[in-house]
Amino acid sequence: MRKFRIVLVGVLAAGSLYSIGPSTATAAPTKVTGGIAAQVATGGSVAHVPPAPSTDLPLRTLAREHGLGIGTAVDMTALDADPEYRSRVAREFSAVTAENVMKWESLEPARGEYNWAPADELVDFARRNGQKVHGHTLLWHNQLPAWLTQGVADGSISPAELRTIVRNHITTVVKHFRGKIRAWDVVNEAFTDGDSPVLRDTIFRQHLGPNYIADALRWAHAADPSAKLFLNDYATDNINPKSTAYYELAKQLLKQRVPLHGMGFQGHLDLQYPLPIDAPENLRRFDRLGLQTAFTEVDVRFFLPVDTYKTAGQVGSFNTLLQACLLTPRCVMFTVWGFSDKYSWVPGWFDGQGSATPMDENFQPKPAYRGLQQVLAVASDPNSRRGF
Ligand code: G3I
Repeated sequence: MRKFRIVLVGVLAAGSLYSIGPSTATAAPTKVTGGIAAQVATGGSVAHVPPAPSTDLPLRTLAREHGLGIGTAVDMTALDADPEYRSRVAREFSAVTAENVMKWESLEPARGEYNWAPADELVDFARRNGQKVHGHTLLWHNQLPAWLTQGVADGSISPAELRTIVRNHITTVVKHFRGKIRAWDVVNEAFTDGDSPVLRDTIFRQHLGPNYIADALRWAHAADPSAKLFLNDYATDNINPKSTAYYELAKQLLKQRVPLHGMGFQGHLDLQYPLPIDAPENLRRFDRLGLQTAFTEVDVRFFLPVDTYKTAGQVGSFNTLLQACLLTPRCVMFTVWGFSDKYSWVPGWFDGQGSATPMDENFQPKPAYRGLQQVLAVASDPNSRRGF
């Protein structure tokens, strides 16, 4: 079994950066030149070193060398109203995820009345800009339409009817976008937190039973056999009880021949908590099951104000996840949950926290952005046929 070693190689003006190199019990750490290297193991030797970038290349250009999709969540209000935002989304990213407009409450605000326009607009934008779309999300306990949650709560929607409604929702949505969505987060945030995660007590778990995840995957697959089907959750970046619950679930689903193709790790990090440094091993175990993996919602928040330590920590945090992805043969996508602080969800949800994205409110690249660029530019990579 190959082992990897993460070596802290220094603190540049940009912040702390990591080198990942091949390591066996006896191997010397990867030689680091030029202050930073993110070299990916090839089983004892370092492969092909790509030429250093001479210009300020967009992330999508750099990520293409790795066969990696680089994505962002897209706020459709911003995409419509802010030309600078729109041009950055097009320039920097090869994948887009709807931040909100593919969620159930947005797609079907009134029962039977679908509002496709914002989601269709994103899909069209992506097509025009040569981007792939990551579908988010078919089943989640948040952002459900009121007609659904109220109907279930007051008993006017029976368990049997709920099953039909869920099946129809998945089928209708996946068919609507058939052939246009690379992958779907079929079920989002299915497990509880803590030391002994169990399936969340959602209306789906309550009324469709514990096999609702398998059912949802089968229904989605029937509606678009070419779409990759993912489960997706937060606080799963490390090896921990929650990620292990997913690992066990994935094994079970695959054994039952349920169409599960990938695991999404959200990657919402917070500098006050330890870095998920065993992310490479964590992704690798899902990879060994034959699943694709992806970081689907990366951001790194901290308590304001910004200072040099936090800036450095943020660079290291983004890089740790990106490098974990590069170390994993089928890690197909690295998506940030917003790329500019101008539109980040973080300040609205965490009092006093912010600055969680790679660009500031004026779309100026922060050290975190330069760190991502550098890792993508410098990392040699034996896994460049990832299947994105
Ligand atoms: O739709 C209403 C709109 O009608 C109203 O005018 C507006 C006024 O504030 O609110 C709008 O709803 C907001 C919605 O985003 C759309 O902008 C909600 O208040 C707000 O709570 C909602 O927040 C979203 C959150 O999911 C909801 O749980 C964030 O933007 C979005 O970034 C966040 O994304 C989630 C992922 O889907 C799953 N993983 C975690 C991630 C962060 O929470």
